Amino acid sequence: MSALTRSPAWRALKAHHKEMASVHMRDLFARDPERFSRFSLHLGDLLVDYSKNIITERTMGLLFQLARQEGVMEQVARMFAGEKINFTEGRAVLHVALRNRSNRPILVDGRDVMLKVNQVLAHMRQFSDQVRSGTWRGYTGKPITDIVNIGIGGSDLGPVMATEALKPWWGPLRPHFVSNVDGTHLAETLKVLNPETTLFIVSSKTFTTQETLTNARSARDWLLTAAENEKAIARHFVAVSTNAEEVKKFGIDTRNMFEFWDWVGGRYSLWSAIGLSIALTIGMDAFESMLAGAHEMDEHFRTAPLERNLPVILGLLGIWYTDFFGAETHAVLPYDQYLHRFPAYLQQLDMESNGKRVRRDRKTVDYATGPVLWGEPGTNGQHSFYQLIHHGTRLVPADFLAPIESHNPIGRHHLILLSNFFAQTEALMRGKTEQEARAELEAAGIRGRRLKQLLPHKVFPGNRPTNSILFQKLDPPTLGKLIALYEHKVFVQGVIWNINSFDQWGVELGKQLAQKIQPELEDAAPVASHDSSTNGLINYYKSRRR
Ligand code: F6P
Repeated sequence: MSALTRSPAWRALKAHHKEMASVHMRDLFARDPERFSRFSLHLGDLLVDYSKNIITERTMGLLFQLARQEGVMEQVARMFAGEKINFTEGRAVLHVALRNRSNRPILVDGRDVMLKVNQVLAHMRQFSDQVRSGTWRGYTGKPITDIVNIGIGGSDLGPVMATEALKPWWGPLRPHFVSNVDGTHLAETLKVLNPETTLFIVSSKTFTTQETLTNARSARDWLLTAAENEKAIARHFVAVSTNAEEVKKFGIDTRNMFEFWDWVGGRYSLWSAIGLSIALTIGMDAFESMLAGAHEMDEHFRTAPLERNLPVILGLLGIWYTDFFGAETHAVLPYDQYLHRFPAYLQQLDMESNGKRVRRDRKTVDYATGPVLWGEPGTNGQHSFYQLIHHGTRLVPADFLAPIESHNPIGRHHLILLSNFFAQTEALMRGKTEQEARAELEAAGIRGRRLKQLLPHKVFPGNRPTNSILFQKLDPPTLGKLIALYEHKVFVQGVIWNINSFDQWGVELGKQLAQKIQPELEDAAPVASHDSSTNGLINYYKSRRR
């Protein structure tokens, strides 16, 4: 048994879970009219209501005890102090420095990183102003109309999600994103673009990622086919990377490179120069106000007591369901169409961070770690997978997010959207008892055998936990706050699970094997070096390709 599962706080939670397993939230609400105010918190205009969880004051007390026992706030302080908490890579974890609007010095190896952070922000401002104002021109002298971010994983998902979320702030440039090495992604994107007015931003922390470099090379060929002059590259390609050497090798002038550093994790990098496509799209002022929103959440996370600390509370609730109720997934359901890529973004943030099984002491965990995260915007999900959340055999804790105000107040749309938001969380909590279902069927004139037949299908067990997150309107600071909320939630969970949330060795094996297979695909001879399934598939492909 691990020290964690043997620990007093864990054992107390285990015992408490036995008591709570038969408790229904409906009864908890009936017993306590103050439950909403007891279990909800504000940060500015962000309201987090976590009262629809299978918890009591005692549950929260025990969870806070667990956080104290595992030294969550001590680890938070270490992160903010620039300590090398990413111990498998020997790196600090300082995405918080990128949005440190207070400019409080943050030292790595004795040097204040804020100087460089501010220099790159100034470079981003100068460049994005030039491109947006039309001062930066393409090889034929025309202003830029379209930007294409070429990147994958953290060098794509954050920029895609944030630009989609902040569409009302879009200015003169149309953003496009190419991530997949499937040539279709690049080809379909380029189809509508004019090389004279297109700017490519090659975004890659390492600048060695196969997908990104393949796409970038093909994009360069496309440009050169039209321009017939290598000089055009300088007007149409910029790079965002930590690796100046590789950028140079690719042929991009390092004066057109935006730097970031090894203490920025890929999935935490949208705050760095990786956010250049966001800044170009919404303008640097809006980008910086997104940083300011995240900074507000950072300050809250760093200073609020556990009991009033939003990321701590959300993190602990996740642990409660994952480790004590055996929940395997977590759904994120934004009732805001602008957040349609938010679940996809959170998948990398959460699953690449906490999809781990080896503890800091090199032993394998004997408890569950990061859940499968998934989601889609409401109300679409209601007509698809909510059936399983309401009626299925699995417990799916879910976060519901919604703005009070819509950017597009057409007719009664927003009212209808929010009625569904409130109705779903209420239904998931309350369910429908047999008695209620029976009364409804009888009122509809259904009786006898038919009633008996239908009744069990009409009962909803309820007791499905949800967090409701409301905010005034989706704007840059709110988006910043929301992203930082989830980043820190993931951090809290990683500390308690005693894993390194900042490396991603699990993605390497597939990359290595692909490197081996690629030359095998290039020659015609059948392969025999793999298992029979892989050999069979490769040889089938080779025999049928034209
Ligand atoms: O393969 C996973 C990964 O390393 C992610 O962590 C990262 O966000 C992505 O690849 C892209 O990496 P890079 O920015 O170095 O191209």
